[in-house]
Amino acid sequence: RKNLFDLEDWDRSDFEVFLELASKHKASLDTPKRRGELLRGRTVVNLFFEPSTRTRTSFEMAEQFLGAEVINWASSGSSLSKGETLRDTAWTLKAMGIDSIVMRHGMAGFPMYLGKLLPDVSIINGGDGARSHPTQALLDLLSAYERLGSLDGVKMVVAGDVKHSRVARSVAKAFRTMGALVSFCGPRSLMPSDLGSFGVSSYRENAKDAMREARIVYLLRIQRERQDQGLFPSFEEYHRFFGASREDISEDAVVMHPGPINRGVEIASDVADGPNSLILDQVRSGVAARMAVLELCLGGEAI
Ligand code: CP
Repeated sequence: RKNLFDLEDWDRSDFEVFLELASKHKASLDTPKRRGELLRGRTVVNLFFEPSTRTRTSFEMAEQFLGAEVINWASSGSSLSKGETLRDTAWTLKAMGIDSIVMRHGMAGFPMYLGKLLPDVSIINGGDGARSHPTQALLDLLSAYERLGSLDGVKMVVAGDVKHSRVARSVAKAFRTMGALVSFCGPRSLMPSDLGSFGVSSYRENAKDAMREARIVYLLRIQRERQDQGLFPSFEEYHRFFGASREDISEDAVVMHPGPINRGVEIASDVADGPNSLILDQVRSGVAARMAVLELCLGGEAI
């Protein structure tokens, strides 16, 4: 596997290989051995056109832990502002001798576009438009597996702004393939018109009931920047009808969120910080998951 554009062609054995590798990396995060040589002499460019804290930082850590040369590129301050095209920017980076690009872009399909422009470079998707965020789903899977063991037959609800989320499709694919019974819930105005293509078993508008019955409650960020579109009446009302409060979470459930979180909107603070929350463990899994992805794409491991 040279590229990671999305998870569409991943089957159960691909996820199992990933989980084995990522678990090993996670166990070694606190040991001096974590600094490896696997990517020694390889150059990875982090090409982010949109803001990021978790994805960008954890990729940078993962690349350094594996011994790669790391270049952090930002669109602000680049020659794009002088009118250089994306295509010429990509060819310029390639001419310098890079081996891999980790990218985030607002345009769905941007990783495939880069892959066509640069067939000899490994392209890893850190989020494209509202289409996919494969490494987020992989790190989520790692955290859920470590906490629950098998996901076969486990009820999972993905709640909130599915329509604008780049995470929802990737998460649904990963957890569904590993046997979880995935449903969506939230306001109809925040559901995409092609909900059927996500392969989930059901949609429920009553978020409170759906959350109370689930073993995995996966909350999506309400994208505040889109609320001028009038997708729901107010943040307070969203929280009242669709947000996760303490009484909506069953005792043996786990609460997940890709971050960043809106406290008091999709999630109450005592849920985010409570004993059922996996949120910070997900962040920690992010470093190990991205080490595993870099190893699979650049390290010669076959899957
Ligand atoms: N979950 C996620 O992608 O977070 P960042 O936008 O901070 O990378």
